[in-house]
Amino acid sequence: MDEEPTPKRGLARNTANYGDRDFALYLRRSFAKSMGYSQAMLDRPVVGIVDTGSGFNNCHRTVPELIEAVKRGVLAAGGLPLPFPTVSLCEPSLFPTSMHYRNLAALDTEAMLSAQPMDAAVLIGGCDKTVPAQLMAAASADIPAVQLVTGPMLATPFQGERLSACTDCRRYWAAYRAGRVTAERIGEIEGRLATTAGTCGVMGTASTMACIAETLGMVPLGQGSIPAVHADRLRAAEEAGALAVKLIAAPIRPSEIITAASVENALRVLLALGGSTNALIHLTAIAGRRGVHVDLHRLNELSDTTPVLVDLKPTGEGYMEDFHAAGGMPALLWELRDLLHLQTRDVTGLTLEQRLCELVFVDRRYIRARAEPVSPVGGLVALFGSLAPRGAILKRSAATTSLFEIEARAVVFDGLEDLANRIDDPGLDVTERDILVLKNAGSLTPAGMPEAGYLPIPQKLARAGVKDMVRMSDCRMSGTAFGTIVLHITPEAAAGGPLALVESGDRVRLSVQQRRLDLLVDATTLERRRAAWQPPARPSRGWDRIVADQVLQADEGCDLAVLRPAR
Ligand code: FES
Repeated sequence: MDEEPTPKRGLARNTANYGDRDFALYLRRSFAKSMGYSQAMLDRPVVGIVDTGSGFNNCHRTVPELIEAVKRGVLAAGGLPLPFPTVSLCEPSLFPTSMHYRNLAALDTEAMLSAQPMDAAVLIGGCDKTVPAQLMAAASADIPAVQLVTGPMLATPFQGERLSACTDCRRYWAAYRAGRVTAERIGEIEGRLATTAGTCGVMGTASTMACIAETLGMVPLGQGSIPAVHADRLRAAEEAGALAVKLIAAPIRPSEIITAASVENALRVLLALGGSTNALIHLTAIAGRRGVHVDLHRLNELSDTTPVLVDLKPTGEGYMEDFHAAGGMPALLWELRDLLHLQTRDVTGLTLEQRLCELVFVDRRYIRARAEPVSPVGGLVALFGSLAPRGAILKRSAATTSLFEIEARAVVFDGLEDLANRIDDPGLDVTERDILVLKNAGSLTPAGMPEAGYLPIPQKLARAGVKDMVRMSDCRMSGTAFGTIVLHITPEAAAGGPLALVESGDRVRLSVQQRRLDLLVDATTLERRRAAWQPPARPSRGWDRIVADQVLQADEGCDLAVLRPAR
């Protein structure tokens, strides 16, 4: 096997291994010429453009025109732009859940970034799992890369209010379940919730991840929140192409951008946004690719000293277009600057301190001053205790404070099917003071850790006017949802965590003040239940089997063990 000579550029990189590298390059150029490129073009440095356009992915509807804009930027800067497809994940289009395939997208993207002859890349993503997958891939492949997000959709004015996916979807559906909205009305609303291209229009997972990518430094500052249909979005794409070419001459690799300091900045921002709980799992996975550990105890310390400053749905009133117009991430980072590591560098090569030289504009309706926060403490809190030895998460900014200190009876569902079968049963033994517990829905199960943590309020309670009650599980919750909901209980039930042993009628204690989540069952009873517990059967083949064999728990970002860096 011949040795790779000194680093090559453009099409001369990563030649196929025929035992004769000169022949391999000759062959590659001759095939590339079949696409009509001149020799001058083929001699240019190559920028790969990750194309996640898909007929199944409404959030990526604008990807074709974004690619054209990126190409303009690459060509004008002297590079050769070459788009290539990767797995595309749209949140509502995938069974059992898009989370089950995030690592497949990350693996696919990393492999193609590494195998194909490119000097830098522009990663086009947007919907919830695509940006995390691309950042995980870039962190591992470690080639110069710029993240370009598709941008949020616009809210739709409708009969005196504004609507956007997907907080309003949940709000109307809950009202429908409670009998306050008719079937005709819910059908009418269905056509008004997502009326433009782009990702969900609230501070859900996609928007949170765009803000995190901006904070990490993989998206140029100010560009993560530009609406999908705004002309500035195309200019940002053109700029991303030019920037990628610039990164070839003066490389700044993801390993220099995604560091312990920038990850901590991203955690601060997640807390100040009141952002999605899913983003914590994704950030943990991205950081893990660079050997950076996200410690949930440290999250609690940060949460106690980071106010929520952004007032958007699902907890406030604004939409992403309001956040962008209010000053976006530059204004939020300016507000937080004394809490941040300012020497982190972004894809432009500038430090955060250099990027935050002045506050250009801020609209205080959506981005509050430190003296007048939405909440004086951060949006997320980690809980530990006998029910969650390795942690669980509560989005306190979206929860009911009167439910923060509670000891109550558990009403347990063994899995999603059991939940679906019994939750609306008029005979279900449940009151609003009980705690709903769902188990066997974590990443090791065929359910694939879906966003089912937002357990519906039992219909008979919803119809009686109950709007929130404590719910807990080993699965996730949409970033657009709200309620007193404990998520990501780790280890999950299918891994044999204490959650597997909970039964209806057990007492469970939640204390947000003490950061505790405890199962109040004596050790002898738990031992007896453990002896009878059986782990779930493993899938026999394919991706499902790879996941079952390799997936890590939520406190390690649910990455695949084999994709983490060698220790
Ligand atoms: Fe794609 Fe919400 S469904 S961002």
